[in-house]
Parts: sequence; structure tokens; C-alpha cells
Amino acid sequence: MAKIIAGVGTSHTPAIGAAVDNGKTGEPYWIPLFKGYEPSRKWMEEVKPDVVIMVYNDHVNAFDFKVIPTFAIGCAEEFPIADEGWGARPVPAVKGYPEFAAHLVQELVLDEFDITIVNEMQVDHGLTVPMTLMFDSPKEWPCRVIPLAVNVVQYPAPTGNRCYNLGKAIKKAVEAWDEDLKVVIFGTGGMSHQIQNRRAGLINKEFDARFLDGLTRDPEGLAKIPPIEYLREAGNEAIELVMWLIMRGALGKDVEEVYRFYHVPASSTGVGNIILETKEFHEQRKGKVAA
Ligand code: DHB
Ligand code: FE
Repeated sequence: MAKIIAGVGTSHTPAIGAAVDNGKTGEPYWIPLFKGYEPSRKWMEEVKPDVVIMVYNDHVNAFDFKVIPTFAIGCAEEFPIADEGWGARPVPAVKGYPEFAAHLVQELVLDEFDITIVNEMQVDHGLTVPMTLMFDSPKEWPCRVIPLAVNVVQYPAPTGNRCYNLGKAIKKAVEAWDEDLKVVIFGTGGMSHQIQNRRAGLINKEFDARFLDGLTRDPEGLAKIPPIEYLREAGNEAIELVMWLIMRGALGKDVEEVYRFYHVPASSTGVGNIILETKEFHEQRKGKVAA
């Protein structure tokens, strides 16, 4: 059966993608950030998932303001890279997994989560920057990706609690797929940032640290944070963090935090990265290393 073995939380700041695409990763501004992601990349190379479920948000590129689904699953064979105004990023198109994606939609809808089916969609920095951060710059991405787009650009965004419960339902849906697959789920966006208006540039390191602690130790408590608190405490765009709760809900109760990195700033963002292994996968991996 398919299994979610781990979750990755990471910011998706578009300037990070631009730094890679324009050969700037060796500049003093960027060195600490890319160094901080090295252990995560190494982890990913070792773990080699078959499928990534990428919980991310579109920034009015695939969906314009005509239609904005709250939760949407990409069921296409392939997802082209969106042109966000500077040409499409020079990264490979993302290969989907239509059969598995359709299964997830079916299970989730029957479990009373109203998921929008998307059969044709371009993907923007919300998805491609986490791919670059975790997989580097290969000719082809090394695994299939199921995009799960969450609306956090037009209010009302879903609550953290709704997201956490959706994550739990995703765990069940994945485990109902009868094929041995190693699945890693991403929660992306955040952490604290506000990119517009009077409070532009706001970053709240304490909020971000509490969020990372809570993700590992007290996700139920974290799920109770109301949307307004993200905005008030950590900036308008910090609402993107509710997507990390989908990832966390999909891992089950007990997790092992195997890596954490935090860096301020990248553009306007407090950048966070965390890797949480399920207890079962962690024990398995420890056993292998010891043997
Ligand atoms: C920035 C961060 C984002 O999450 C985003 O979608 C756009 C810009 C920034 O920090 O510049
Ligand atoms: Fe964003």
C-alpha cells in the first residue's frame, strides 16, 4: 500500500528561485540560505520518494480572480511552468500521477472534503521554488508530483483546523491506494511575511519559532490558531502557513523532527524549513543506519 513517510515544510519565496535561475546562489546575501538547505537536499536524495504531494498555493497565475477553488487537486499528466511576468522559470515541467490523484479526489470527496478537480493547470513559484530547494536543478524531476492547491490569496482562506483535518483525511486516502509507494507530503509558503501596504517587511521570529515547535509537538494546539492571528502577528501572507498544517495532519500523531532551519530574511520572508518523519519510517531508517 502507499504510505506517507515524511513531511517537509518550506517557504517558497520567489526570489529564491530567481537567485538559482540567475546564478546568484554564491552571493553573500544568499550563501547562508542555500547552505541551510543542504542537509534537507541530502535527506531527500537518500529517501527518494516515489511521489510528492505538494500542498502549495497559486498566486493568481493558474487561477485568476474568475475562479478560486479553496482546495484543488491537479489530476493532469503534466503541469507546465507558469510565466509570472519574467518568462517561465527554466525548470522541468512537473509530471503528475493522474490515476493516484483521481483516487485521492474520490476518497476525499467521499470523506466530505469538497475538492476541485483540475485537469489542466500551470504551476507557479509556490510549487517550483520548494522543488528547487529540495531537489536542486535536475534535467527531470526525480519523482511524480500531485499538486494540491489551497486558496490563501483571496479571503476567506480555510482555517488551520480545516487544513489539519484535511491532512488526516489525506493520510487515510493515501493508505487506501493499493500500490507500494513512498509518499512525501510538502506544506509550503510562509513563514511570517507581509509584502504590501504599511506593514510591508514585517517579520515575527518568535511567532515562526513557536509555529515550528508546535508543528512537531502540539499540532492540535497550532490548529486552533484563528486566521486573524496569523495576519495580526506575522503579516498578511503568513496565512500561507495553514498549508503546513495539511502536511502535519497527514503524518499521524507522533513524528520525529529530523531537521530544522530558519533564516531571515529572504526578500520579505522569514524562511523556514522542517523535516518530520513518521515514527514508523524513522524507526525503519534508524534500523537501516545501525545495521
Ligand atoms: C514574497 C513571498 C511570497 O510568499 C510570495 O508569494 C511573493 C513574494 C517575498 O518575500 O518577496
Ligand atoms: Fe507566497
